[in-house]
Amino acid sequence: MSDYETLLVEQRDAVTLVTLNRPHALNALNSKVLEELIQAFRAFEADDSQRCAVVTGSGDKAFAAGADIKEMADKGSAEMYKADWFSGWTEDFTRASRKPWIAAVNGFALGGGCELAMMADFIIASENAKFGQPEIKLGVLPGMGGSQRLTRIVGKSKAMDLCLTGRMMGAEEAERCGLAARVVAHEKMLDEALEAAATIAGMAPLAAIANKEAVDAAYETTLDAGLKYERRLFQVLAGTEDKAEGMAAFVEKREAKWTGR
Ligand code: CAA
Repeated sequence: MSDYETLLVEQRDAVTLVTLNRPHALNALNSKVLEELIQAFRAFEADDSQRCAVVTGSGDKAFAAGADIKEMADKGSAEMYKADWFSGWTEDFTRASRKPWIAAVNGFALGGGCELAMMADFIIASENAKFGQPEIKLGVLPGMGGSQRLTRIVGKSKAMDLCLTGRMMGAEEAERCGLAARVVAHEKMLDEALEAAATIAGMAPLAAIANKEAVDAAYETTLDAGLKYERRLFQVLAGTEDKAEGMAAFVEKREAKWTGR
């Protein structure tokens, strides 16, 4: 357990569980949450015993119902432009750790909540989850990547539908269009996410990072450049102790023992 004001952070063996903890505001994402999430992810990155993280929301109702509207209501464009508002989410937070993490979406994932979930490596959703980019109803648009990440994940038509109508999408639709990797019964969702995280945590650490970087590259590069990047990562991993161990363990029909080197 930890001393954060807006988060609960606990270590379960090699898995760090981060719970957004502002249930009275449906876990709305304010500046304090951002500051603490960056802090928690930097600590997760620095701790070699921690190999995968899960982020979820406290309470039964919400993962996060968006950026904190009450915090933004009085801010004008000069103030937001000067502070480069939301860059902490799209830049500092996403760079705080290179290790894999899963969003365990237990309820509303709206606006910034949906955007935070999309920053994860993948989403495991409860059947009660509801995703959406309702910013248009507030007279604005997504600001933490919704128009960009959602479009890359679900395609133009569905992203336009969600951004322009501001409607919510249920878990089944989210899985169908590739936003959620898995949909699980509400009460089993967190266990399933922790189990997936434990599986990832049991893999060779450098291979986990390389797999994540290679899949991420597919969003940002041409196929040709992505294929080359994947090959280079493969060639780099070929020189690791864990590659030698993994292949020897296969041949010798035993469990591999990873060192992270
Ligand atoms: N910011 C601040 N407070 C929020 C909030 C948010 N995004 N979402 C909910 N809350 C607060 C409510 O104000 C309410 O507080 P009070 O009890 O003090 O009034 C409390 O959480 C419970 O919410 P509701 O009473 O509204 O609960 P509900 O069950 O009736 O409705 C809901 C749930 C449909 C999710 C509704 O709360 C809602 O529409 N929330 C806002 C969703 C939204 O517009 N998100 C986008 C925010 S903008 C953004 O995220 C920009 C970006 O791209 C980064």
